Amino acid sequence: MRAREISVPVGNAKKKANSVPKLEDGFAQQDIISVSQFSRENLEHIFAVAEDMRAIVKKQGSTDLLRGSVLACLFYEPSTRTSSSFIAAMSRLGGTIIPITQGVQFSSVSKGESLPDTIRTLESYADVIVIRHPEMGSAQMAADCARKPIINGGDGVGEHPTQALLDMFTIKEELGRIDGLNVGMVGDLRYGRTVHSLARLLCLYDVQFDFVSPEILRLPLDVMNDIRDHGLPVAETYDVADIIEDVDVLYVTRVQKERFADLAQYEEVRDQYVITPELMAHAKDKMVVMHPLPRVGEISNDVDADPRAAYFRQMENGMYVRMALLAAVLGKV
Ligand code: NCD
Repeated sequence: MRAREISVPVGNAKKKANSVPKLEDGFAQQDIISVSQFSRENLEHIFAVAEDMRAIVKKQGSTDLLRGSVLACLFYEPSTRTSSSFIAAMSRLGGTIIPITQGVQFSSVSKGESLPDTIRTLESYADVIVIRHPEMGSAQMAADCARKPIINGGDGVGEHPTQALLDMFTIKEELGRIDGLNVGMVGDLRYGRTVHSLARLLCLYDVQFDFVSPEILRLPLDVMNDIRDHGLPVAETYDVADIIEDVDVLYVTRVQKERFADLAQYEEVRDQYVITPELMAHAKDKMVVMHPLPRVGEISNDVDADPRAAYFRQMENGMYVRMALLAAVLGKV
């Protein structure tokens, strides 16, 4: 996407002094582009509302809090959980959806329509737009030309802020706290946008990081520098066995095949880490194994029955957190 394709429409109602403003005055009508927008207070608000949303869903399935509101889901990259949990979230809040998820090829994007024109179109029908796009910075580009709130559902190797919100919510639910935890992150730390967002968001808390990856998939320097700026302890290793006894959270990720320019390099590192029951035997009794999913072999199916395997609960939490976020962005909570 060339920057000059973007122009801000005259009469843009949204005030944006800073391109990624903090959520200091709350969430109403704000873009959700990066975890750098969030404070601890913002997170606590979303977590509290997400718990309420869970109670509502368990008790009555849905509510009409967002009746009459429309969410456009614009996904230029594959998605199962992010798209369907946003769709389910909006449906359970009584709103409706414009799904351009599996079918960008059936939209005018396949005719060569630019991202700004597609955004302008969708915002004339919807109240909020979730976008997933292969280019880093694309969600910000969309926000720059939109009057309606844009939620980043993953911008290439950049960020995935709503995943980080549900990851943090899961840690809090599972372990009762975030401060004081030792968080191990394993796998593709270079291209894994969920890792980038979660690591940055964890910097709001007093945590310790253990990063495990092959040399070519180490955490990007800018994320590492953010962690260092917060003065948090960091260690890096190539072997999960080095950290398994110490971690409270083991956050496992898929090697992001689609981001490799050279597939031979992918083949070299693809099967480097597999979490097995044998490895889990060395872990603390009270810890959690998480994964943003999809998994493609990094966690053995034999681990699923372990009570510490939290990845399916984590996935379910995504819907409650996205319900909370939609309600907040549309000014209802
Ligand atoms: C992740 C993503 O899309 O970045 N998936 C998700 O949203 N749950 C992780 C991945 O694709 O590996």
